[in-house]
Amino acid sequence: MVEADHEHGDYDRNRELKLLDETKAGVKGLVDAGLSKLPKIFVHDSHKVNDFSSSSSSSSSPATDVSIPVIDLGSLHEEGNSRHEIVQKVKDACEKWGFFQVVNHDIPQSVLDEMLDGLRRFHEQDVEVKKEFYSRDITKRVFYNTNFNFYTASEINWRDTLYCLLAPGPLDPHQLPSICRDITIEYSDQVKKLTLTLLELLSEALGLESSYLKDIDCGEGIFMVGHYYPPCPEPELTWGIGGHTDIGFVTILLQDQVGGLQVFHEDQWIDVTPIPGAFIINLGDMMQLITNDKFMSAMHRVVAQKVGPRVSVAYFLRQHVDDESPRMYGPIKELLTEDNPPIYKEMKMPDLVKLVYTTKLISSPLNHFRL
Ligand code: OGA
Ligand code: NI
Repeated sequence: MVEADHEHGDYDRNRELKLLDETKAGVKGLVDAGLSKLPKIFVHDSHKVNDFSSSSSSSSSPATDVSIPVIDLGSLHEEGNSRHEIVQKVKDACEKWGFFQVVNHDIPQSVLDEMLDGLRRFHEQDVEVKKEFYSRDITKRVFYNTNFNFYTASEINWRDTLYCLLAPGPLDPHQLPSICRDITIEYSDQVKKLTLTLLELLSEALGLESSYLKDIDCGEGIFMVGHYYPPCPEPELTWGIGGHTDIGFVTILLQDQVGGLQVFHEDQWIDVTPIPGAFIINLGDMMQLITNDKFMSAMHRVVAQKVGPRVSVAYFLRQHVDDESPRMYGPIKELLTEDNPPIYKEMKMPDLVKLVYTTKLISSPLNHFRL
């Protein structure tokens, strides 16, 4: 099958891709088949030189003495200065990191555990049932596949993903896989409330009215994805997800306790250590664009590992490719001054989404929208 030997030069990459795609069983299917060597389609370019020690930017061990900020939301509704303090911490985290974790967010642990478990069940269910959801039609509201940019990216990564476009527009719950349907609905209702709180805090951190970001529809598009990173036989040759920035305004990420997520900060990769019950919040390119670079969209990645599976859920605040009447976004006027003129042009978010979906690998898609 796709058991290609990555030591040898000549091979038909497209054929290998197609063979794997047609199994509809994803990376999980390869692992189930007992694969012990990585098919060449997964081998990352920077690793092909076979000198892992010298490729410092991609495989150096992460710094252990720094970590992304952790913000306690528990005192948000208490009297006194606590809201102001939280807003200050959010501002600081968004300016310096573009990444933080939140704890005491009011969503019960059981909802988080059941969501991760539901996704694990989806990916581990009978492959014949799972195959029904396999698709590369990105106009579908619910589907699963391995690597969204499978045929366009220069390398593919060691993970499978279930995708659900939750908003805008009503999602018929029957489109969701029955094995994780109820918890997906419960989880998305709960996380939606958290996103509204976050949009308020972010608006205030920018010195704007609390409702500003909500009023410009930053919470209107919701794309939720459930990743499954199977154990990898040769983890040093590939990625779980290669270095990238997220497209949308904000991402609310839930990871299990396996670890592997890293963020690029001040020239080094930093581990995002799992904290039980915490959400990871990171800003995407759209937030960087509308804040005119005041808030940063940070590069991050997930390493492939021998241990696994690792399960994570990303809840992206972003519109999708085929949004019917996309609104125009540009740097927020209230944030601009003579000394801080707009860096980006007015654009439509689906243009950014399309760019990321259809181009090989772009390290900084935002550059396409610079003035
Ligand atoms: C993503 C992402 C990280 C993770 O889906 O964009 O960065 O931990 N996921 O799965
Ligand atoms: Ni990401």
